[in-house]
Amino acid sequence: MERKIYNFYAGPATLPRPVLEKARDELLDYNGTGMSIMEISHRSKDFDKVMEDAQAMVRELHGLSEEYHVLFLQGGASTQFAMVPMNLWIEGKLPDILDTGTWSQKAIIEANIFGGCNVIASSADKKYSYIPKDYQLNPDASYFHCTSNNTIRGTEMKIFPDTGDVPMVCDMSSDFMSRVLDFERFDLIYAGAQKNLGPAGTTVVIIRDDLVGNHSEKIHTMLRYKTHVDKGSMFNTPPCWTTYICKLSMDYLKEMGGLKAVEKINKRKAKIIYDVIDDSDAFYLGYTAKDSRSLMNVTFNLSTPELESKCAKEALEWNLVGLKGHRSVGGMRASIYNAMPLEGVEVLADFLTTFKESNE
Ligand SMILES: Cc1ncc(COP(=O)(O)O)c(C=O)c1O
Repeated sequence: MERKIYNFYAGPATLPRPVLEKARDELLDYNGTGMSIMEISHRSKDFDKVMEDAQAMVRELHGLSEEYHVLFLQGGASTQFAMVPMNLWIEGKLPDILDTGTWSQKAIIEANIFGGCNVIASSADKKYSYIPKDYQLNPDASYFHCTSNNTIRGTEMKIFPDTGDVPMVCDMSSDFMSRVLDFERFDLIYAGAQKNLGPAGTTVVIIRDDLVGNHSEKIHTMLRYKTHVDKGSMFNTPPCWTTYICKLSMDYLKEMGGLKAVEKINKRKAKIIYDVIDDSDAFYLGYTAKDSRSLMNVTFNLSTPELESKCAKEALEWNLVGLKGHRSVGGMRASIYNAMPLEGVEVLADFLTTFKESNE
């Protein structure tokens, strides 16, 4: 019998079982072609349809108008840290960047390589355990950049500032498609697929039309959004397989009721774990401020690193995998993306309760 594993890795991460099953069923013969989708030309009508449907589905799930383009690019979210300034940075109008941790820091580094930025607020003073609230935006910044969810520390932005005419750019890599937001308030959203959508290898970029084509002439062809927008994300060979899995994953999400339905379940799942932490008489210490808690990455500590290691090790006996915190910060982290079933979270809660009883 197949062993049932609950996978709490932060990314690459668990995918919905029905998505994997469908991919398996279609692996050797896609749509009666007698070939795998991995083997088909990206210029074929079969792949063309995958790409078109995937783009349409991103738009539909986010309630976006035709003013937005959807791209499936290679290079990971890390390439977007650089592509954003390359395409949006304007001389004399430094971008505003909100520093909420490692990933924002990378956006800052790339903006600085390009010409500079203003870090308008930072939660570095408390080791990125909260999302800063009071900050002033520069009305003439070339763009405002934020990270909606800090995967490593487990903080999540609940509200987004009103940036007026300044384009709002958001790295949504680790909470993409996990909740409902007013997505048309954003001008550019990017997300590595490997957390909440599909396998590693594709990055979704959603960009509003009026931001396309503002790059300087020094920017290389592949690094211009316009290149990819003009060719419907097919300027060169796109990440075919990963885009296909993302499409299956979005079909599944739509069947579940879309972002509204999944947000409801995500809130329920997160509450189960946070309740165990809060009711543990400080055996488990939640890492983040309560008002900044992520629905996707629940981070906590035990009294010593040794006890944390023991906890992660014993969790394996319960088939709970991937609970160690990010290597840069230690501690514990349960990543409970869309595809983590409620049942997995319930087993984790039972395990944590049992572990506490035998180790306090
Ligand atoms: C919020 C966030 N942004 C960016 C990245 C970098 O993504 P990639 O590895 O696709 O470059 C990660 C990776 O974990 C992330 O969590």
